[in-house]
Amino acid sequence: MTIPITVECDPKNAVKAVQREDVIIIIDVLRCTSSIITMLANDAKSVITTSSVNMARRIHTEHPEFILAGERRGTKPKGFDLGNSPLAFSPEAVREKHVILTTTNGTKAISNAKGSKWVLIGALLNAKSGIKTAFSIAEREETGISLVLSGKKGSFSFEDFLCAGAMSEKLPPESVEYSDAALAAVLSFQQARDSLETIVQQGTHAKYLISLGKPFVEDIQHCCQLDKYEVVPYLKGGYILPLIM
Ligand code: MLT
Repeated sequence: MTIPITVECDPKNAVKAVQREDVIIIIDVLRCTSSIITMLANDAKSVITTSSVNMARRIHTEHPEFILAGERRGTKPKGFDLGNSPLAFSPEAVREKHVILTTTNGTKAISNAKGSKWVLIGALLNAKSGIKTAFSIAEREETGISLVLSGKKGSFSFEDFLCAGAMSEKLPPESVEYSDAALAAVLSFQQARDSLETIVQQGTHAKYLISLGKPFVEDIQHCCQLDKYEVVPYLKGGYILPLIM
């Protein structure tokens, strides 16, 4: 069987991927899924994502020992322990802790995929291990793979598209059937590969983050590291955990 590879450029279409029963990879390079990957690589116990600040606060009231993290317009909401900088989720900060995370786009995209059997978390940081894991599940369960871009308030996200290309190009061509968007993503990534960080910095969200100051530039540098981590986070019963195959 050839495995259909779909790239959904609108996070609302995660629902279509759920209906197809695809293995779903949610991508938000800047910065939500990069943060989740960094947390679990640094031995956080789990990540609980929610699309609303109020819900995040409510969960924190019930579990004050959990770290409350997230952003709105890129910065930390009032009373939160941490923002959404992946660099702040150091081993010292997160080891053996549960993290509650709410972000503008990424955690919403994750919520849109919640009915699916397999929701994996991907970014440039784990591109190779993420797609390898998705491929072996899809082969075993005879399903397709959907890469869902978190976007920016419903619009297209350049760096998420490049990441979908970085992942898709690692698949064995004889075993997959690329959608047109997946093919375009592969070609875009191949153009960008040699100067990934410089090219990502030209995207709308990267420019916005850069306007917020130096720490955000360092976040972008971190998020552009290809295959830095092997961890593949996945959603299990409301918690994001490292997948052990
Ligand atoms: C989001 O989910 O919209 C992002 O992660 C925003 C950010 O913190 O850069």
